[in-house]
Amino acid sequence: MARKAKATKKAPAKRANGNGEMKPMEAVALLKADHRIVEGLFEEFENTKGAKAKQRIANQICLELIVHAQIEEEIFYPAVKEAVEEEIYTEAHVEHDGAKVLIAEILAGAPDDEFYDANVKVLSEMIKHHVHEEEMRDGMFAQAKRVDDVDMVALGEKLAQRKADLTALYKRNGLPAPTTRTMKSMPSLELGQPVA
Ligand SMILES: [Fe+2]
Ligand SMILES: [Fe+2]
Repeated sequence: MARKAKATKKAPAKRANGNGEMKPMEAVALLKADHRIVEGLFEEFENTKGAKAKQRIANQICLELIVHAQIEEEIFYPAVKEAVEEEIYTEAHVEHDGAKVLIAEILAGAPDDEFYDANVKVLSEMIKHHVHEEEMRDGMFAQAKRVDDVDMVALGEKLAQRKADLTALYKRNGLPAPTTRTMKSMPSLELGQPVA
């Protein structure tokens, strides 16, 4: 039996401070809140059986991830680049692009496709790894916080604004085909077909 779907949490762009006033979220806090939302959705997917519900959750995962990757790539990563080790910076982009391949498959597919569940499962594992690399001790986010001359609250506001705009755009027009920044070729073979 499909477990009753949890209400999807929305990432708060602002957080109440002790005085009940709304305070803008700092950049890393906003990105971490996004991570928690996607983790919740993957868990919800795992516990859901009905095809329609599964597709709805999977599409929501794809929307969240495409918007999240886009605001990181357009705004956050460039803003903190100088403070982040080159390896961490380049690997983060490749991990995003790897995830986008699976996202494209999920968006093009349906729950009764042979590889649909596997695509979502493997995507969840890739994202788990990537989130760990961003959040771990001395990972991307820890290094990013050492950047000079970047106001993390202003950066958070910029991320929140872009996130809201992109989410509205993609809800209105549908998701665009994922765009990679690091891949030059993606050859395709039939299952079981030899490479050469
Ligand atoms: Fe992230
Ligand atoms: Fe990322």
